[in-house]
Amino acid sequence: MKRILICGSNGLLGQRLALMMGKEADYEVLNTSHHRTFVLDHHLFDYTQLDITNKGDVKSLVGSFRPDIIVNAAAMTNVDACETQREQAWKINVTGVENLSEIARRIGAKLIHISTDYVFDGKHGPYDENARPNPINYYGKTKLAGENVIIASGAHHAILRTIVVFGAGIGVKNNFALWVVKSLRENQKIRCVDDQISSPTYVGDLAAAVKNTIERSGCGVYHVCGANVLSRYDFAVEIAHAFGFDDLAIQRIKTFELHQPAPRPLVTGFILTKAEKEIDYHPMTSVQAIEALRRELLHVTLN
Ligand SMILES: NC(=O)c1ccc[n+]([C@@H]2O[C@H](COP(=O)([O-])OP(=O)(O)OC[C@H]3O[C@@H](n4cnc5c(N)ncnc54)[C@H](OP(=O)(O)O)[C@@H]3O)[C@@H](O)[C@H]2O)c1
Repeated sequence: MKRILICGSNGLLGQRLALMMGKEADYEVLNTSHHRTFVLDHHLFDYTQLDITNKGDVKSLVGSFRPDIIVNAAAMTNVDACETQREQAWKINVTGVENLSEIARRIGAKLIHISTDYVFDGKHGPYDENARPNPINYYGKTKLAGENVIIASGAHHAILRTIVVFGAGIGVKNNFALWVVKSLRENQKIRCVDDQISSPTYVGDLAAAVKNTIERSGCGVYHVCGANVLSRYDFAVEIAHAFGFDDLAIQRIKTFELHQPAPRPLVTGFILTKAEKEIDYHPMTSVQAIEALRRELLHVTLN
């Protein structure tokens, strides 16, 4: 039986992994999160608190659980907050990752880590794994530095870069798709950019990519995202149609009109050939994934 330690189990991906991996008889899973309360039923899932930035706690928990695999779904993910709270962003996205990779190397565990299309500048998407990163905001810089500390540590690893993750979960922070649904339900007009083009990724597909990476011994960098490339505006329109709302509530704008603290890479998207071949990654189209979200939201209340 493989022992798996999940970091960031209260997050969008972390919860989905807890649910997916917890069902498997072949795995003994220990979920961890920053805060003391676990959003899933702690009678059904093993759970403990872990701040990945606390090196001593990371060492003692990993030392006692002795995982075969550590999955790091923990991160500071708010792109604009990373731009303005740089010390905190570095601490979580780089120092925290360094703590995990050092102990992983020491005990011979494999580290599976999640990164982002924001390591690229968005000038030449879609990107494959050999494309040269060139982050244009601080979040992207910390995520690239996190990748580099893993590689430099010598730990066995797989790094899954992904894009605009969406899905439902308990107490998860707003993701783009949830924001669109919530706003349209409340009859609010929304503004969506038509010059940010990428491939939104359904959290169920991303969790399946992590599971396949474990089962197929994937290693190195993988690009994993949704099956098609579209703008945020077009994605919002697809969401409106699937949920039965009028798309006239969605106003088409350009990124510069948002005056966001962090610059955004405009055109990303990934070439999925490596992930398809090596970890059997076959994601849904945006329309299929939005339908999966619609079904999930029949059971989950939005914040
Ligand atoms: N969401 C996206 O659109 C997107 C796109 C590309 C890549 N990614 C990457 O995908 C991964 C998963 O993202 P997600 O959307 O699931 O993020 P999320 O919902 O924001 O979850 C991240 C989790 O990390 C936890 N965390 C923060 N600091 C921590 C610490 N010091 N120790 C332990 N846990 C800590 C957070 O807990 P608290 O909130 O309680 O602090 C939160 O539960 C991340 O690596 C992210 O960079 C996400």
